[in-house]
Amino acid sequence: MVKQIEHKYLFRIIEYDLIYREGIIRSAQRAFGNSMDSYWAVRYLDKCNKTFIAVFDNKVVGAVMIGYIKLHDSLHAEIGYIFVDPDYRHMGIGSALLSKAIEFLKENGIKAVWALTSPRNIATRFLFKKFGFKEFANPRELKEILRSKDIGKLLYRMVYWRGDVILYLPLIK
Ligand SMILES: CC(C)(COP(=O)(O)OP(=O)(O)OC[C@H]1O[C@@H](n2cnc3c(N)ncnc32)[C@H](O)[C@@H]1OP(=O)(O)O)[C@@H](O)C(=O)NCCC(=O)NCCS
Repeated sequence: MVKQIEHKYLFRIIEYDLIYREGIIRSAQRAFGNSMDSYWAVRYLDKCNKTFIAVFDNKVVGAVMIGYIKLHDSLHAEIGYIFVDPDYRHMGIGSALLSKAIEFLKENGIKAVWALTSPRNIATRFLFKKFGFKEFANPRELKEILRSKDIGKLLYRMVYWRGDVILYLPLIK
């Protein structure tokens, strides 16, 4: 059964179920256009640990996908993908998806959540900053948080490209 989380606006954030797969594929294609991200987002959907979707008028209009990353002494997570159909942006859907993801990760005792984005992706950087994520421009800066082995594993799992902005939100002190 699909667990529903009612939202005060006209959209709902719900847990992913296979019946929404085609809808997610369509909304990823609309969100990322011709970029390879629409392909990689669908690949990620099949291997990630948790996905929440935004539904507006019975139509999938966005999604957030979460993957766990086991580091030496604790479980971390990444937001592998978050996207909203261009026709439904600036309505708070991206915020509602990210908020649901953070709530889920806190409930599950995850130590910290990470994400990567391009420095040019202003909308994504604004969205994550709004939720208190800290930005790192260089992996060397992570030394204040993680051991070097863990930095390597984290960046490998997140498929870090030189120049990416690294976003970080601790969930447990
Ligand atoms: C990033 C994205 C998910 C935001 O979705 P959204 O539904 O428009 O987000 P919200 O309406 O909740 O807005 C969140 C905040 O980001 C800011 N924001 C959104 N779009 C913005 C833009 N183009 N420029 C600057 N700030 C922006 C808003 O100020 C908003 O804060 P506010 O509520 O205080 O006004 C959406 O732009 C998107 O799908 N982008 C393409 C996919 C992508 O690049 N995903 C990230 C990598 S996987």
